[in-house]
Amino acid sequence: MTDATDQVTLSHDGQSYELPVIVGSQDERAVDIRKLRSASGLITLDDGYGNTGSCTSAVTYVDGEKGVLKYRGYTIEVLATKSSFVETAYLLIFGELPTSSQLNEFRGLLTQHEFIHEDMRHHFDGFPPNSPPMAILSAMINAVGCFQPDFMQPEDDEHFMEPAARLMSKIRTIAAASYRKSIGKPMIYPRSKLRYTENFLHMMFSKPYEPYEADETVVAALDRLLILHADHEQNCSTSTVRMVASSRANLYASVAAGVCALWGPLHGGANVAVIEMLSELQQSGEPLERFIARVKKKGSSTRLMGFGHRVYKNFDPRARILKNACHRMLDKLGVHDPLLELALRLEEVALSDSYFVERHLYPNVDYYSGIIMRAIGIPTNMFTVLFAIGRLPGWIAHWREVHTNENARIDRPRQIYVGPNVREYVPIDERG
Ligand code: CMC
Repeated sequence: MTDATDQVTLSHDGQSYELPVIVGSQDERAVDIRKLRSASGLITLDDGYGNTGSCTSAVTYVDGEKGVLKYRGYTIEVLATKSSFVETAYLLIFGELPTSSQLNEFRGLLTQHEFIHEDMRHHFDGFPPNSPPMAILSAMINAVGCFQPDFMQPEDDEHFMEPAARLMSKIRTIAAASYRKSIGKPMIYPRSKLRYTENFLHMMFSKPYEPYEADETVVAALDRLLILHADHEQNCSTSTVRMVASSRANLYASVAAGVCALWGPLHGGANVAVIEMLSELQQSGEPLERFIARVKKKGSSTRLMGFGHRVYKNFDPRARILKNACHRMLDKLGVHDPLLELALRLEEVALSDSYFVERHLYPNVDYYSGIIMRAIGIPTNMFTVLFAIGRLPGWIAHWREVHTNENARIDRPRQIYVGPNVREYVPIDERG
């Protein structure tokens, strides 16, 4: 939406340039610099894109100052208490909450596509033991695409439900199979009667002759966790998916790239890093104040993992929901996790320290999610894979937004070159 009456005047080198202001549906404002270079020769520079809008999007809204997160206009608090992961996925991908018949159709497709091609089982054998599950996941998403060439480039918007469900269903089967492979156990086939989250737990934890009976509390907690991870506007992995999609790459290739971006410890990998940090603190017995002093030291490479966020300068609403859910779930299951006690004390120490207060560093989604996953029995090296399963509907929604945007162009940022100027080529035997 453009407000033609609102504009910014930029002066440089004795010239002025009028730049239009774009206004979003929540009144966010952006200076439209698309014509700036052709008019003035200037580009803008914003390392890490901290102040750059890379697109307009109708999927998710975040207000970092107020701690607000909405998917397609519905607050995360409402969705986390009233919706299911599958319904939320539908909402994100198709823009509206489904009717019962649409939800049933979507569920039916998730069930229909839950198996992976038998030949794909051999691909798992090619990975050495202890391969990182995120590496397996990314590779296998591209592999699964090779078995479904017709669905790689679903241009037909009307029939998008099938490719979306197919990928969502298969990622869950691949994730569970990669875990089974990593512990040297046979892959468990999905059971069509089970719902999405329960089926995943079954494929992770059943034994060949002893089906895993999932506790309702556990299923509900995992479903909520997936809802909370389902989208988060232009984060690193989603921007990666959009960038790859902008080259007209297929859905599988774009999502496989997103998995790799999510893997890093500053992004989705932080949920693993939080548990490692808490476990080390527990084992070493280092006083929390001393640990915080190490974190604060100028030039320190130690960070308080699970704290801070590029956009949230207030409590991450997902962390607030997870903190409460964590207490409730552990109480209900009768689990006592000393890492939760430690996490609470560490949060208290950090939030009463001016370093964190001045920099607006609060717990983010990854601070408490690992404790919930531990209580469910998910092994630490699968935490980021769970994040990927949760984030998939968001990635699919953004891929679709790019592909259905008639005005979309390939993403191609510019740069300011700071390397050497013209140099004389010296033959190798004359180099000093
Ligand atoms: N511990 C200690 N100091 C921190 C932390 C932290 N977790 N996060 C930021 N800071 C400091 C940082 O050192 C800098 O201080 P100074 O101004 O003195 O140089 C200041 O706060 C601003 O930090 P930044 O690195 O410029 O902030 P950013 O917006 O580039 O980074 C972040 C955001 C999430 C990568 C960062 O806060 C971080 O590394 N957090 C820990 C990793 C983590 O929990 N990541 C999960 C993010 S939420 C889920 C997701 O997106 O995947």
